[in-house]
Amino acid sequence: MPFVYFQTFGCQMNVADSDELRRKLFLRGFSETFSTIDADLIIVNTCSVRQNAENKAKARIQEFTSIKKPDAILWVTGCMAQRLGDELKKEIRGINLVIGAKEIDNLDSIIDDHLLAGTFNSSAVHSRTSAVSDFVTVMRGCNNYCAYCIVPYVRGDEHSINARDILENVRIRVSEGVKEITLLGQNVNSYNDDGIDFSDLLVRVASIDGLKRLRFTTSHPKDCSEKLIRTIADTPQCCHHIHLPMQAGSDRILQAMNRRYSVSDYMKLIDMIRKHIPDADITTDIIVGFPTETEDEFAQTVQLVRDVRYTTAFMFAYSAREGTKAANLTDDLPRKEKLERLGRLIATQTDITKAIYDSMVGRTLEVMVNGRQEKREKHWMGQDNGCKRVLIACDNAQSGMILKIKAQRSSGMTLIGELSA
Ligand code: 5AD
Ligand code: SF4
Repeated sequence: MPFVYFQTFGCQMNVADSDELRRKLFLRGFSETFSTIDADLIIVNTCSVRQNAENKAKARIQEFTSIKKPDAILWVTGCMAQRLGDELKKEIRGINLVIGAKEIDNLDSIIDDHLLAGTFNSSAVHSRTSAVSDFVTVMRGCNNYCAYCIVPYVRGDEHSINARDILENVRIRVSEGVKEITLLGQNVNSYNDDGIDFSDLLVRVASIDGLKRLRFTTSHPKDCSEKLIRTIADTPQCCHHIHLPMQAGSDRILQAMNRRYSVSDYMKLIDMIRKHIPDADITTDIIVGFPTETEDEFAQTVQLVRDVRYTTAFMFAYSAREGTKAANLTDDLPRKEKLERLGRLIATQTDITKAIYDSMVGRTLEVMVNGRQEKREKHWMGQDNGCKRVLIACDNAQSGMILKIKAQRSSGMTLIGELSA
């Protein structure tokens, strides 16, 4: 039986794409290995969102070319594969095939054209792991063209996957033991399948028997509707977590980024979420050091972080991406200055995260068990109904269970608790 080894970089969309590829290869007789030297096929699924992500992927690919079995096949997929195409093969000798992110819909024929066609018999389809939590893609591509972002170029035009296929896909996963689904898209709020909008889709997916929790990401603030927020509030399976990328805290920078909302629009949304879902965990993405960002504009970003009180945030230093609109602007802030701002922003958010976690001590939370905590006996990892990490001290749990846990301590980024009496 041939073995495939996966290395996935980047966002959850890539994790989901790797899983799709994994399923297709399993159907053709492959098994997964976690040892690079045993692999007959190595797949590196790449990210292009920042230059750093590409550098990391290239270094890893290079490494594979020297440690793999001599006859093992090396494929590079994903966003960097799309962006650089066969140039990659010239840059790194030993890559057999480059499959761009836009080719994801043609995976079956690509696999069959390139891989020992028909040699392998189909066996049972195994899912990613015995995970209780899984991703299902509902939209591909993006039409928003935020000035800094490479995604629309490498993933192509936005399109919604039809609701019937999504529901079927979720049903299959649930029948395999999945309890929690995260619906994925670059901008799920613009989902539309023949009049079925994203709120309608959430309600339909939530009604699938056996599904305990439903999550989604990412929402673009310009398309996040009150209907969606009410739907989350009214649908018990929907988790109280909204990821709402803010990107910057000044109107001038937001406009330069082509985000199409103002700080005041954004704050209205936050208020609406807090009104309908008072216990919601709100998280975000922020870029510091966008071209021409002044110290004062950066201070506005810090202030917005304080005003919103995100549970957690993903924060990045701006990285110019060739071909985007912002790449034509002078990337005028020295890297050192960007990193210095980033450090200050992270410090601000870390304090807020800690304060939020600390404030949960003494409360009882509904926690879904995700798996054992490997390093400690009789401890399990889980997540509350928002996005908070919880370490559970108990003898007997099982992944997928939802337990009532009393939070006893906080480490500032994890709650530690026991079964509530
Ligand atoms: N530089 C820095 N961060 C970026 N992001 C997207 N493009 C860039 C870039 N060129 C960030 C945004 C986005 C997240 C996934 O990555 O914050 O929401
Ligand atoms: Fe990139 Fe903007 Fe599309 Fe998100 S919405 S993928 S940041 S272009």
